Amino acid sequence: METPTMKPDTVLILDYGSQYTHLITRRIRSLNVFSFVISGTSSLKSITSYNPRVVILSGGPHSVHALDAPSFPDGFIEWAESNGVHVLGICYGLQLIVQKLGGVVVEGESKEYGKMEIEVKGKSEIFGSESGGEKQMVWMSHGDEAVKLPEGFEVVAQSAQGAVAALENRNKKIYGLQYHPEVTHSPKGMETLRHFLFDVCGVSADWKMEDLMEEEIKVINQTVASDEHVICALSGGVDSTVAATLVHKAIGDRLHCVFVDNGLLRYKEQERVMDTFEKDLHLPVTCVDASERFLSELKGVVDPETKRKIIGKEFINIFDQFAQELEKKYGKKPAFLVQGTLYPDVIESCPPPGTDRTHSHTIKSHHNVGGLPKDMKLKLIEPLKLLFKDEVRELGRILNVPVGFLKRHPFPGPGLAVRVLGDVTQGNALEVLRQVDEIFIQSIRDAGLYDSIWQAFAVFLPVRSVGVQGDKRTHSHVVALRAVTSQDGMTADWFNFEHKFLDDVSRKICNSVQGVNRVVQDITSKPPSTIEWE
Ligand code: XMP
Repeated sequence: METPTMKPDTVLILDYGSQYTHLITRRIRSLNVFSFVISGTSSLKSITSYNPRVVILSGGPHSVHALDAPSFPDGFIEWAESNGVHVLGICYGLQLIVQKLGGVVVEGESKEYGKMEIEVKGKSEIFGSESGGEKQMVWMSHGDEAVKLPEGFEVVAQSAQGAVAALENRNKKIYGLQYHPEVTHSPKGMETLRHFLFDVCGVSADWKMEDLMEEEIKVINQTVASDEHVICALSGGVDSTVAATLVHKAIGDRLHCVFVDNGLLRYKEQERVMDTFEKDLHLPVTCVDASERFLSELKGVVDPETKRKIIGKEFINIFDQFAQELEKKYGKKPAFLVQGTLYPDVIESCPPPGTDRTHSHTIKSHHNVGGLPKDMKLKLIEPLKLLFKDEVRELGRILNVPVGFLKRHPFPGPGLAVRVLGDVTQGNALEVLRQVDEIFIQSIRDAGLYDSIWQAFAVFLPVRSVGVQGDKRTHSHVVALRAVTSQDGMTADWFNFEHKFLDDVSRKICNSVQGVNRVVQDITSKPPSTIEWE
């Protein structure tokens, strides 16, 4: 799908691989200015097609002297100058400007990493006319340094070690900061960015989620012809639900959603999510109860990867069947597929130049069930692909998705299959787990902790241990409780419940779930563990 036509006040970031690049995007968006990142080696045609008001060249791990040092395309500076586009180079971006415009960058004698004091000199545009002589702490991270500036450029701040910390060419509207204004270790960095965008570049702070929504709806309507149909697999999670709700708002009931009950869902999950889909969101959803199919395929399977593959394959079969039925009904194959791809997924899949990672969609493959059949030749609609998770929640709020739903913890596609260790069909493991999980999650909600935890769930262990209940010896199952805090699921810490909370939960579980006589808590972080157990 096309990227939506941008409003004039877009800040485009050319990425040269800095770990902070996406933080700049976030910071700028937090100022209500639309910003997004494309590769630093994009063509001039691609850069100009976004019609940016400002272009930021990011930092990066390279030296401008390296043979394959990534750079902006020929003609970029001339284009920016003749169109009144402001350019800001940060770190590597600054060095690139200096080197490309005829200055000199050398390997610095004393490298600057970490906190450093800089002094603003005289009058400058980027720091504002009042700031001359001011000292501030900033976060530096560079080995090379600019020693001779191109013609027309001026040093406007220097580090305590005497290195160029900021430069500008007011005529050409080109600026550079040798440090990272976007990180919190540069306490005045946001003030500088704000001043630069609003006072120097004249950008207006008018980007709102409502605008993005209207824009997306317009694009969806232009993309999907009036006789075409669109399908979407709903997982019960936030992303696919918000994506489907948005597409539904655009094209109405030419959207057809499917929700598959694979027999591996949580306690009352099918009823709960179908209720939200139908009553709150009025989405056209077919619920396919395929639990028997899934569970019979999973019988006897203990290897977690095999479980995932079986679930993925079965899901695709059901999806395929759903599409065929729609074709029969409407006399036309569905042409589009809605996916709740988020911006971080796109970023992960398109690594910046010079990182030695190749373009790959495999990074998150284990987080998405299977992938859908290529021979269905469905064109993708990914209306969330420019948004971060918290922005998706905000969009969901505007679309009237219930707030409780938007705050749901993530749930793995293969569901309880990766929370029952071993054969999921053995005994009544799934039923036991559903009950334990429900008690655990409800207790977390009752304690007001749900929103402070990134993900919480119970795990069924295929071992029995000896217990004593009502004067009788028992030989029952062990369940584990896992709750973690995290930013993005990539790393995680275990959540520290109070003693009384754990004591109550454990008592409740053993007293009300038959077949469980022991409750343990998982107290490992990720790494070395993962969040799920399988
Ligand atoms: P791990 O256990 O890999 O999990 O640290 C990180 C996050 O991903 C979820 N997860 C999955 N989601 N299919 C999914 O849709 C999967 O196979 C899968 N495995 C893990 C997990 O719940 C956590 O949110």
